[in-house]
Amino acid sequence: MRHGKVNNPANKDSMMESDSSKDTLFANPHNQLVDFAFTDAVADVFPDMIRRSVPGYDAVIALLGVIARQYIQPNSHVYDLGCSLGASTLSMCQQVQDSSVQFIGVDNSVAMTQRCEKVLQRHAPSANIVIHCADIETIDINNASLVVINFTLQFLPESQRLTLLKKVYAGLQKGGALVLSEKLSFPKQAEQHQYTKLHYEFKRANGYSELEISQKRSALDQVMIPDSLETHFERLKQAGFSDVSQWFQSFNFVSLLAIK
Ligand SMILES: C[S@@+](CC[C@H](N)C(=O)[O-])C[C@H]1O[C@@H](n2cnc3c(N)ncnc32)[C@H](O)[C@@H]1O
Repeated sequence: MRHGKVNNPANKDSMMESDSSKDTLFANPHNQLVDFAFTDAVADVFPDMIRRSVPGYDAVIALLGVIARQYIQPNSHVYDLGCSLGASTLSMCQQVQDSSVQFIGVDNSVAMTQRCEKVLQRHAPSANIVIHCADIETIDINNASLVVINFTLQFLPESQRLTLLKKVYAGLQKGGALVLSEKLSFPKQAEQHQYTKLHYEFKRANGYSELEISQKRSALDQVMIPDSLETHFERLKQAGFSDVSQWFQSFNFVSLLAIK
């Protein structure tokens, strides 16, 4: 198994730098507020949108490569559920260069998967990767040494989240890992308020206007429902994981590591 260099987000050659247009989707007043969806327009600006909206996103992507080095096993499958443009898969397969490892990216947005295939073909032409345009609730998971769900569980109906995690647990090898990254909600109102304010400040610092922040919030309101940290730990336990830890936090965004 060959290991590559950690993908430094500051590297101008990284996928995020070279493939992104500026996100101005919510810059002008929208007459009618439509629920947020992963359309062509979103996919075109997605790298810029996610890095200016999710504190710590670049760090999570880069460190996924390190986690990949630790957990990926030869002759196994690695799943990236809700892969979007393939940033997580790219980080992992750049770190673990082993053709016996099959990387499987899944996303139900045609706009995302079409672009994802092109991005991965360009940046990791020799890696063993398949991209499926499918609902992550319908795909089979087996022989997995690592499963990544990076900022995607929050888009599933709450009633389906445990079912998916049970399927992930069943499909992991013993000693295999799940990385689950999510936006958090907070049970205490004061804490919710504090972290919401910090998140909006992060967006302002990245050049988003008040109009952009408020229109995006309304569009996501019914579509992305974050859970509390307690709910995540409890649900992962119910899914079968007994070894769960939080390895990353940036304001109200976290990433958890669950080992089978
Ligand atoms: C915030 S993005 C994920 C970002 C990506 N994991 C990354 O690290 O760059 C959420 C993605 O999940 C996908 N998605 C949402 N619900 C899904 C589902 N039920 N099945 C498959 N993909 C889904 C969306 O199309 C979108 O591309």
